[in-house]
Amino acid sequence: MLVLGIETSCDETAAAVCSNGELRSNIINTQLIHKEFGGVVPELASREHLKSIIPVVDRALKEADVSLNEIEAICVTKGPGLVGSLLVGISFAKSLAFSQNIPIIGVNHIEAHLWAPVFENPEIEPPFIGLIISGGHTQLWSVRDFGDYELIGQTLDDAVGEAFDKIAKMLDLDYPGGPEIDRLSKSGDPEYHKFPRPHIKGGNPDFSFSGLKTSVLYFLNSLTKDQIIERRADIAASFQQAVIDTLVRKTLDTADKFEVKKIILGGGVSANSGIKHQMRESAEEKGIDVYIPTTEFCTDNAAMIAYTGYRKFRDYGYRDNLEFSPDPGLKIVNN
Ligand code: KG4
Ligand code: ZN
Repeated sequence: MLVLGIETSCDETAAAVCSNGELRSNIINTQLIHKEFGGVVPELASREHLKSIIPVVDRALKEADVSLNEIEAICVTKGPGLVGSLLVGISFAKSLAFSQNIPIIGVNHIEAHLWAPVFENPEIEPPFIGLIISGGHTQLWSVRDFGDYELIGQTLDDAVGEAFDKIAKMLDLDYPGGPEIDRLSKSGDPEYHKFPRPHIKGGNPDFSFSGLKTSVLYFLNSLTKDQIIERRADIAASFQQAVIDTLVRKTLDTADKFEVKKIILGGGVSANSGIKHQMRESAEEKGIDVYIPTTEFCTDNAAMIAYTGYRKFRDYGYRDNLEFSPDPGLKIVNN
């Protein structure tokens, strides 16, 4: 079955073609316009999606070497995300589904992140623990099966990517800040300053990053500008280490609690080299396998939307009618 996936929930316009769950093409257009504002500007994001949706879908079809007439279903992100951005993808997907008279399948973006590693590792079978870390989300899931999930923990304030972006801004680094902090941390001392590891004790599976952010701010205020410049890599590495310790500990505790031997990571922050390294190393000591997508599938992409939509259709015949609307706060519902 040939499906076309469309993703426009935030600042990536993406389209992908899957044949029976196997990826045939994956096109991602990351909007660069937000760089100058230091964060995603929702109104600009929708306008950029409008400009690029047709060329992006065209390229996805061309690279997969298929014509629109051969596509048998359209999968599109229904939420969560920015309402105006979602609306562009959904409206476009609906018009394609209507004109081609084929099913349309609305997909939850977070559920899709949970299945992104499966592209490259088809041997991954549930149950597994999924840690989704991005600019908008920090969630720990128990995945019992396709369509059967339990939310174990989530952030009580900032998402982890948001914390990376805010600290990067304080350190005068470019947006998005995560990759910049990742790069700088490689030459920094992670033990230069011990920042707090919020909620790490007592088995609480929820996350909180605003205290850590405030603590970095206070620490920076205690330094001169020259000291900050001189110690920038050490500060970045110390902040990143606090994040790593928190994420690794909570994820492994959850795997222990549920007696699960597989962990998957998803979302833009899972591209972080320090997180990947430490998660793998600590999990290995416990005999747990860790699966992390390549960067292309960590960040927002339509391949994961196409795959998840295809599975929903194949496994339990899910399809939407043409009346559904974007849902910025969409929750995962079990089948
Ligand atoms: O999943 P994503 O592409 O978009 C959503 O937020 O849904 O994630 C973007 C986030 C940004 O906050 C960015 O700073 C962060 O992922 N990020 C990273 C790295 N690469 C991207 N954070 C830490 N280390 C990285 N290497
Ligand atoms: Zn995402």
